[in-house]
Amino acid sequence: MASTEFNIKTASRLYYGGYYDRLVEAREALELLFGEMEYELLNKNGRNPIEYIKARIKTPASMEEKLARLNKDGLRLGAQDLFDGCGTRLVCTFIDDCYTIKSWLAARPDLILVAEKDYIRHPKPSGYRSYHLQVRVRTDIGQWINAEIQIRTISMDCWATLEHHLRYKKHLLNKSMMASELKRCADELASTDINLMIIRDRIVYDKEDDSDETLTGR
Ligand code: GTP
Ligand code: MG
Repeated sequence: MASTEFNIKTASRLYYGGYYDRLVEAREALELLFGEMEYELLNKNGRNPIEYIKARIKTPASMEEKLARLNKDGLRLGAQDLFDGCGTRLVCTFIDDCYTIKSWLAARPDLILVAEKDYIRHPKPSGYRSYHLQVRVRTDIGQWINAEIQIRTISMDCWATLEHHLRYKKHLLNKSMMASELKRCADELASTDINLMIIRDRIVYDKEDDSDETLTGR
């Protein structure tokens, strides 16, 4: 335990410019905010759009590599200048949930939306889909800290996890064929995600059914 604390303190000083604790505070502030969002959206719509949430502080090795890469031409950026030092991922049920969540977050006074990228409407050539937000979040001691929020459906998340493995495999036979197979899967999943919304709407808005059960399945 003592050695873990020592390592985190050393890493914090070396790789995060002493900023590690701020990133932890940002993660905690976002986790509280997400809890509030789940509660509010469940009460408003009768269904919690969030399936699961992931959060991570960028590892020392990854922080070191990214800062070295960005600073190689004389820039002097530190951990406080990146957005993905504190990265969170909101995984939701349906595509339109991604936009509901984004709008809810954008309206919050304790969050400043700095930039957004819609890789759902405009997928990357790899087939990658997600909605990315770069934000500043207010921590409980009133500091504004950079963070990144990725919003995606379960199928987009599953796909991105697999494609991430492929990306980091150096010597895989048929790597380019795998990449094009994955691209095909991404498009099929996107089409299935749309069909699921259509089916959901038919089920939920079926007026003949007078039961008031929701589609949570939980
Ligand atoms: P980074 O320097 O990697 O942070 O990229 P960026 O700041 O240009 O932002 P971008 O929106 O392109 O990507 C940020 C993050 O989204 C990455 O760190 C990944 O987590 C995820 N991501 C983006 N593109 C892909 C992709 O093609 N495949 C997978 N699996 N993840 C991706
Ligand atoms: Mg990034």
